Amino acid sequence: MDKIQINGGRQLKGEVLISGAKNAALPLIASSILVDGVSTFENVPRLMDISSIQMLLEDLGALCEFKGHTFTVNASGIDKIEAEYELVRKMRASILVLGPLVARFGRAKVSMPGGCAIGARPVNMHLSGLEALGATISIAGGYIEATAKGGLTGNEIYFDIPTVTGTENLMMAAVLAKGQTKLRNAAREPEIVCLADALNRMGANITGAGTPIIIIEGVSRLHGANCRVIPDRIETGTFMVAAAATMGDVLIRDCIPDHLGGVINKLRATGAIVDAFEDRIHIKGSEIIKNIDIKTLPYPGFPTDMQAQFMALMTIAQGNSVIHESIFENRFIHANELLRMGADIKISGGNIANVRGVSHLQGAPVMASDLRASASLVIAALIAQGTTVISRVYHMDRGYESIEKKFEGLGADIKRISS
Ligand code: EPU
Repeated sequence: MDKIQINGGRQLKGEVLISGAKNAALPLIASSILVDGVSTFENVPRLMDISSIQMLLEDLGALCEFKGHTFTVNASGIDKIEAEYELVRKMRASILVLGPLVARFGRAKVSMPGGCAIGARPVNMHLSGLEALGATISIAGGYIEATAKGGLTGNEIYFDIPTVTGTENLMMAAVLAKGQTKLRNAAREPEIVCLADALNRMGANITGAGTPIIIIEGVSRLHGANCRVIPDRIETGTFMVAAAATMGDVLIRDCIPDHLGGVINKLRATGAIVDAFEDRIHIKGSEIIKNIDIKTLPYPGFPTDMQAQFMALMTIAQGNSVIHESIFENRFIHANELLRMGADIKISGGNIANVRGVSHLQGAPVMASDLRASASLVIAALIAQGTTVISRVYHMDRGYESIEKKFEGLGADIKRISS
């Protein structure tokens, strides 16, 4: 297993280009199942999670080609409706094939995703939504089986909690359903809007994406289209925090600052100077990092996927910061690793972290537990005195394209130790 070694203490300076968003690319690629033809997706990041969904689609019988950052799927040959355990267990987002398979083939069998390092992550709302569209659901032998012999029928679906992949799954299921589907209390993330735009390019009729009410008028078939993946707002935010934490001066290009309102606002509150333009952000870190409080919320609130990175920044802020994780029940595992680097963090009630700023962190061997936790450890290592070796970086490779090369380009002393 590869490791990342970082000698901390360097200010980040220069320019960095942002890749396409993993969490937008995955549903787009899954949506290709709906089309008896060829779909092309541009700006797809080269990541392990993309390889996982490629393997899954190929196992179903689709033909995939991934050249540069262009991903093409010919889904005409799909002759299998079962997403197997061995493929789904590598990536929870594989659940995204459930809606499209039932919509196109009237049947799907998908291994039930288990919990993961950040929480239990149930899929009950995906399943009750499909039932509302007329599918019969059963769970046996660790698999979800969904059947809708005569096809799905539009209906009103209310989500108890806005769920990102749940909204995506049901939007994809509803595009080929008979009649109208209304999704209420839908997730509003930019990735939802990206998927709705792509589906509309394929011939779907979706309005309201990006608001809590999405209306889908079913159509009889979709056709292939060329769609573009939006820039990764979490990768953008990660570089912003790294720049602020190292008192750096970084121009972040090919991003959409509009998707980062909560993050920009909080970084400014720490004292960083953030200038946002249409497709780029210039950030300069300040010598004194002010303490701030954060509560993670569904978009447009502060993203849970940026919580770990902000915790790393708050370890060297002046005073105390309170971080409230309200989306996932177990998303503070990185705190224990940050303690090993000299941070002062106390967790109370399971989802509140009290971070008392210290004068500096020290390098140490640490272990990544999930994707965003690994980004937080990289940021901590960049500011720490001495050398940090981060193991289990396969978590990071799931979601950050060429991360060590990008940080190296900004002047970080970082290298991958391959095993
Ligand atoms: N939830 C339920 N039942 C469901 C679905 C969700 O109770 O049927 C709960 C979850 O347990 C959680 C909350 O609803 O407490 C919101 O979860 P959501 O369904 O929105 O999460 P997700 O769709 O599984 C996506 C991203 C995550 C990101 C979350 C929250 C993808 C592929 N994954 O997950 O990304 O943290 O939304 O924004 O889009 C990451 O990239 O590192 C990552 C974990």
